[in-house]
Amino acid sequence: MNKSIRQLLYMLLLAFALIYTIYTLYLNLFLDPGAADFLIHKTEENRPQNIPLWLNIMYIHVIAACLAMVSGALNFSSYLLRRYRRWHRVNGYLYIFAVLIVDLTSGYLAPYATGSKITSIPFNLVNIAWLWITITALVQIKRGNLFRHRRWMVRSYVFCFTNMFIHGISLIGQHLLGMEYRLSYICGVYGAIVVNIVIAEFINRTLFRHPVAMTRLTTEPNK
Ligand code: HEM
Repeated sequence: MNKSIRQLLYMLLLAFALIYTIYTLYLNLFLDPGAADFLIHKTEENRPQNIPLWLNIMYIHVIAACLAMVSGALNFSSYLLRRYRRWHRVNGYLYIFAVLIVDLTSGYLAPYATGSKITSIPFNLVNIAWLWITITALVQIKRGNLFRHRRWMVRSYVFCFTNMFIHGISLIGQHLLGMEYRLSYICGVYGAIVVNIVIAEFINRTLFRHPVAMTRLTTEPNK
């Protein structure tokens, strides 16, 4: 693919990640810090017993998720990778740390998930899969395989959009298909997982189809 189209697509991703991060932080920490709009849909069975604790864990979850989204987007910059390799590495570990925090907090949130076991099971499976995929990306670069590292990072990074797809699919279910909230949310959770996987494979088979020329990177300074 043409270099300028790649650069344009990357700038769009970065802009989107930044705007979505600001929106998510504003919505969950300032506009609706009590998550009233979300908790209203929970039944007795799914309602957390300790709401203040649930909220605090949710804040940590959201902040770590936003950190993963931004640091992940920055690490797809080939410009930053070429010029500031050490920074890419540090930022990469920051991304893994953020994924770990999202996973741990999600482990607490999952048992109270709207939809009960039907959604808490896929949430927990994503927890395991996301960490495994991210660690695989790290193992690949430790083995010096840049091509596979990038492909596994794409598979990992798409999971940063899980919440966006859950709510997007849920909204379509409610407003276009007339579903009640709970069913639309369940469809959102399963749909988001499928969409994440499909998008990652699409990107890997189009944008990242060819191996990266290692020489292009190794000739650049390692700042
Ligand atoms: C990385 C981007 C993510 C963001 C911005 C995000 C954000 C949020 C937010 C704001 C909530 C509170 C409820 C809501 O408004 O949806 C939430 C709940 C939750 N998230 Fe995430 N999340 C992300 C990724 C993930 C991932 C990858 C998982 C699974 C491994 C996950 C698991 C959960 C669970 C289990 C809940 C509780 C759901 C419920 O009570 O029904 N999140 N997330």
